[in-house]
Amino acid sequence: MSDAQHPRIRVVIDGESVDVEQGVTVAAALAVCGASMNGTRASVTGELRAALCGMGICHECRVTVDGRAHVLACQTLCRDGQIIQTARRR
Ligand code: FES
Repeated sequence: MSDAQHPRIRVVIDGESVDVEQGVTVAAALAVCGASMNGTRASVTGELRAALCGMGICHECRVTVDGRAHVLACQTLCRDGQIIQTARRR
């Protein structure tokens, strides 16, 4: 839905443009587009990890946002034009 009450913005997740509702977190955007299924990051042993707590505690949701590594997806709001990279693209 795109209207005045639910304005949409566009972010780029792993190279793909995705429209999301303004005010959602990066973690929510990843879930909406299915990118969270591929993992947000890889552990030191190579296991894919994904958002777990949703409140800034576990740090499993770390992604790269606009070139800045280790950003907590669950604590970061999407911004129009934002470039998000998950473990899939690293
Ligand atoms: S999901 Fe746990 S810190 Fe983001």
